[in-house]
Amino acid sequence: MGDLVLEKLSIRYGRRPVIAEFSLRVADGEMVSILGPSGAGKTTILKAVAGLIEPVSGDIRLDGKSLAGVPPDKRNTIMVFQKPLLFPFMNVEQNIAFGLRMKGMAQRQVRRAVEDILALTQLAGLDKRKVHELSGGQQQRVSLARALVLKPAVLLLDEPLSNLDANLRQQMRELIQEIQQKTRVTTLFVTHDQSEALIMSHRVTLLLDGRLRQVGRPQDLYHHPVDPDVARFFGGTNFFEGRFKDGFLHTGFGVFELPAVNGNGLPLTATIRPEDILISVTSDFELEGQVERAHFEGMATRLWVKCPGGHLVVLAGRGEFFPGQTVRLRLPAERIRVFPPGAVEPV
Ligand SMILES: Nc1ncnc2c1ncn2[C@@H]1O[C@H](COP(=O)(O)OP(=O)(O)O)[C@@H](O)[C@H]1O
Ligand SMILES: [Mg+2]
Repeated sequence: MGDLVLEKLSIRYGRRPVIAEFSLRVADGEMVSILGPSGAGKTTILKAVAGLIEPVSGDIRLDGKSLAGVPPDKRNTIMVFQKPLLFPFMNVEQNIAFGLRMKGMAQRQVRRAVEDILALTQLAGLDKRKVHELSGGQQQRVSLARALVLKPAVLLLDEPLSNLDANLRQQMRELIQEIQQKTRVTTLFVTHDQSEALIMSHRVTLLLDGRLRQVGRPQDLYHHPVDPDVARFFGGTNFFEGRFKDGFLHTGFGVFELPAVNGNGLPLTATIRPEDILISVTSDFELEGQVERAHFEGMATRLWVKCPGGHLVVLAGRGEFFPGQTVRLRLPAERIRVFPPGAVEPV
């Protein structure tokens, strides 16, 4: 079992608050990512779960039991660090077996467990290699294998892919997903990379400045950010101002029929994603604009379009576009997201 609950966790380094009332439940078998920029407090949360630092308040429970005061090696949680911390004087097999030997497991059982994990982490045949004879990706797999062989209730992965190059990262991503699906080990996966978080996890937690800002399915965070900061973290969103009057949202890009939010008549922040804007040269879309820049990105072309009410970034899946061209745009009302006043203003 591995039902993990973090309840109103607050953590300080000295007198400096780093994590403020962070709550999260990770169900047994679930993979949840903690996403946030560098310095947000992601590693700190994992260390608290692993028992390497004590929170000043709040509780961590595993299968209903509080882990307060339980030493790291008695928690059944294992942390895999950003840099693989392997024993340099041991070979792959010895590194992986170390934890089991420490637990006093019989030699035959150790060998069987190590063999299973070598296969699972695609390291079969490398068991006699020394650590320094391995590539970065292989070292990271040994580090993962060493954690998995102990069959933890909770696996804590701290940016395990960030030291790998792009191709390897892709392979490791798939391997981690595959292993997680096979073993169904409850996993907290930390990353600063938004696309990695979206791809890798059942649910994503966004951490900004030590506070949980939103938790949900990847689609929820991407399409329904709770505030402009979350929207900005997922990048590339258009921000503009609007006001509700008589049941319509009035903006520099047109008037839209939307369910009203609190704050009738007050200036509000609205957003729409570049891929949600419809664009055409020939249609009767209501908004006219001029292309200022067009970047062909392969799958789509990213356009900077100047409209009477301001600039919009548009991602066009089809068609050829060039600077100076006149285009017509439509902002589908259901794709516009409005943040009530009091939500943090965009910069
Ligand atoms: N041992 C420590 N002592 C004091 N401050 C620390 C320590 N570890 C981390 N911090 C600070 O706490 C904040 C959160 O750090 P960390 O959890 O490592 O963030 P992340 O993993 O999201 O990059 C950062 O501002 C960092 O400088
Ligand atoms: Mg970190």
